[in-house]
Amino acid sequence: MNQPDVDTLTREQAAAELERLAGILGKADLAYHQKDAPFISDAEYDALKRRNAAIEARFPDLKRPDSPSDRIGAPVASGFAKVRHAVPMMSLANVFDDEGVFEFDTRIRKFLNIARDAPLAYTAEPKIDGLSLSLRYENGRLVQAATRGDGEVGEDVTANARTISDIPQVLSGAPEILEVRGEVYMADTDFTALNEKQTANGQKPFANPRNAAAGSLRQLDPEITRSRPLKFFAYAWGELSEPLADTQLDAINRFAELGFSTNPLTKLCNGPAELLAHYRQIEADRALLGYDIDGVVYKVNDLALQERLGFRTNTPRWAIAHKFPAELATTLLEDIEIQVGRTGALSPVARLKPITVGGVVVSNATLHNEDYIAGRDSHGNPIRDGRDIRIGDWVIVYRAGDVIPKIKDVVIERRPPDAVPYEFPHKCPVCGSDAIREEGEAVRRCTGGIICPAQQVEKLKHFVSRAALDIDGLGAKQVEAFYTDGWIREPADIFTLEARFGSGMQQLKNREGWGEKSATKLFNAIRTASRVPLNRLIFGLGIRHVGESAAMTLARFYGSWQNFRDAMEQARDHAGPAWDTLIGIDGIGEVAAATLVDYFHEEKTRAALDRLVEHLTIENVEAPRVEGSAVAGKTVVFTGTLEQMTRAEAKARAEALGAKVSGSVSAKTDIVVAGPGAGSKRKKAEELGVQILSESDWLDLIG
Ligand code: IVH
Repeated sequence: MNQPDVDTLTREQAAAELERLAGILGKADLAYHQKDAPFISDAEYDALKRRNAAIEARFPDLKRPDSPSDRIGAPVASGFAKVRHAVPMMSLANVFDDEGVFEFDTRIRKFLNIARDAPLAYTAEPKIDGLSLSLRYENGRLVQAATRGDGEVGEDVTANARTISDIPQVLSGAPEILEVRGEVYMADTDFTALNEKQTANGQKPFANPRNAAAGSLRQLDPEITRSRPLKFFAYAWGELSEPLADTQLDAINRFAELGFSTNPLTKLCNGPAELLAHYRQIEADRALLGYDIDGVVYKVNDLALQERLGFRTNTPRWAIAHKFPAELATTLLEDIEIQVGRTGALSPVARLKPITVGGVVVSNATLHNEDYIAGRDSHGNPIRDGRDIRIGDWVIVYRAGDVIPKIKDVVIERRPPDAVPYEFPHKCPVCGSDAIREEGEAVRRCTGGIICPAQQVEKLKHFVSRAALDIDGLGAKQVEAFYTDGWIREPADIFTLEARFGSGMQQLKNREGWGEKSATKLFNAIRTASRVPLNRLIFGLGIRHVGESAAMTLARFYGSWQNFRDAMEQARDHAGPAWDTLIGIDGIGEVAAATLVDYFHEEKTRAALDRLVEHLTIENVEAPRVEGSAVAGKTVVFTGTLEQMTRAEAKARAEALGAKVSGSVSAKTDIVVAGPGAGSKRKKAEELGVQILSESDWLDLIG
């Protein structure tokens, strides 16, 4: 199936595509969960889901109320009573490569403020390819078994679960309330035997062991379930009247003591390298296990840390599924093209002979940066055993979690004899300026700045994009066309378009694809967009290191455009009170701060900004008001050692309550939370008469 690249979809196409995907994925869910007869492969299903997510990421406002992204499983089938789970049955986020595993570890350390080299233990265990089941025990007796359903409400399959020999009916020494969760599955040999029986009886064989397990468990007649060889591994829990243990591993051991089967390949690992080693071991043994698995699940071992990490909407922060690769394909690397981004980054893109990977036609893949092409990582260590990538090579492509295909390796045996190592350009391919790679940077950047058309166009595209000014009808394609024709060269030009064309909209109307209606619509959209919240404007400027969240932090901190701009100009020497305040803002690092003030110091930028803001009504931004919060709108500084929680968590909680968190004390500070070891900040607070609280006073204050 040839599907257009997500990046090239227009709004209308995107909406239609989201509708189509919701339809297919909805049907696929039904076929899979309720009829146990899938019509697409798992890899195809995953690919469609990723495509759906990528389109939603590009057009967040087009996300449908019935979006497949929000669906965990399928709505419950009729025939079984519904059960609302006391604790929702979550899904797991997926990663598909080593990098994803390292990022998982980094994210967790960041959240908990655990140093990179400090020990942090995880469990790693196979991801069983079956269906999850929640078993509720009260006073040691099995009282209910429920399927996951949509995560909130499942099906009552108690009578069927009682027929599974791995599931104890009675437990001794269990907490008063205990919900044991795990996977029901069917062993490969049992599956083969069952299918032979099915065929012999003139019944349809099952597509795979998972469908056989699901079909067997969800029988209205429990006697049929009894005749099916189902098994169960316990790996998680729901409601508990008392804690099971202090660690994931001990909790699993406790399950084993209570009489459950637990997976023998569950292993304690210290850090991502050990996780990956165990993953490789499991992957190598995969065919010998006797049951299907589709990846390895990693979980933070310390349950107190799990609790602090908590959950996102559908998935825990403390666990992740490292899926086995879906599908690889080999194709010809026809060319390497260099794209220039809005900050001047030169990004190499592989142009491939089109090939189907996981049900999607792939013709481009990312090559990351020049080191990646040369066969080394950012520390100079070899990757792919040091094999470089050359035009004319046969390459192995795959699709990872996102939609951008990647290159796994080159088939060195098929390298044409005349293939030469790729020479990464040292000049910008668009404007010819020097492209420089700074010390410690992986990326080479065009130094052309505003003389580089590529950077300008990309900046303009960013400026009009959804998360920035959000100008409907002015998409990437239109920006490029208008730029080429000289209609728009800088953001301010967008707002003078209508005046320049005046009532004689003829020029615009004469363009291909434009009529009176679309032109009027565009001008209306531009007018609407000229009223812009400060955070969106800051983000829209496309300053390096200033993403959506930093833009929001800055907007909340400075409140108004005038305040913000004055502060940036006052900080121009990277010194003085305005600079100290800027780098004191939690979430704004020194690198971002330096980029920001340099941006506002640049004469040409300042003039362009003056031209722009003349056309805008910039809305001030306030910190969110939180009902009943004693600290909403207050500026808080944490200093010294916090003993009850980490700085990251303290910040997350303070911000959730509407406070601004700053790193430096000034006359604008409302509260300083000082732990042991607090020094100069505490002193300054005393001098300025700022309220000083201990950590426990603070916790009392925020409740
Ligand atoms: S942990 C809160 N561990 O994978 C996290 N899940 O894609 C609970 N699964 O819904 C899940 N093996 O059906 C966990 N060892 C394992 C698993 C596992 C299979 C399934 C489970 C879950 C799905 C998420």
